[in-house]
Amino acid sequence: MLLPILYYPDPKLHTVAKPVVAVDKRVQTLIADMLQTMYEAKGIGLAATQIDVHERLIVIDVSEDRAAPLVLINPELVWHSAEKHLNEEGCLSVPGIYDGVERFDAVKVNAIDRVGQIRLVEAEGLLAKCIQHEMDHLLGKVFVEYLSPLKRNRIRKKMLKAQREERE
Ligand code: NI
Repeated sequence: MLLPILYYPDPKLHTVAKPVVAVDKRVQTLIADMLQTMYEAKGIGLAATQIDVHERLIVIDVSEDRAAPLVLINPELVWHSAEKHLNEEGCLSVPGIYDGVERFDAVKVNAIDRVGQIRLVEAEGLLAKCIQHEMDHLLGKVFVEYLSPLKRNRIRKKMLKAQREERE
């Protein structure tokens, strides 16, 4: 089932997510729906926060063929590289907006997978950037919050205008 995505500046995007209590049937359905929603929207990652579910759950697929889903439940950052780099980012909750954000080049994250097993995910490159972006969502943070207040305000206005036009 496709799920509606929250758009910036919806205040619900700033909700801090709580841990997933059990990887049960409900969570399995949620994972399947989030993956479908992410693929349909042509995104490379989606956090539960973005579909107004405030639990620590992320789906990602950075593969070319869109056939390598990664599910991270209750992810915890356990290591990051010393090096950071500025890269252009976008977000399904801020459609059409791309701007530079500094992220660690590599990270290691402990997370529960979709069958309930704890695993260590070692990531670099695009996957590392994506994991950091999605983990921010779980803390109620959208990437535009890294930009200057001036830029952020401009994006906010642009988004509100687009949403108004959408309704008309
Ligand atoms: Ni995002």
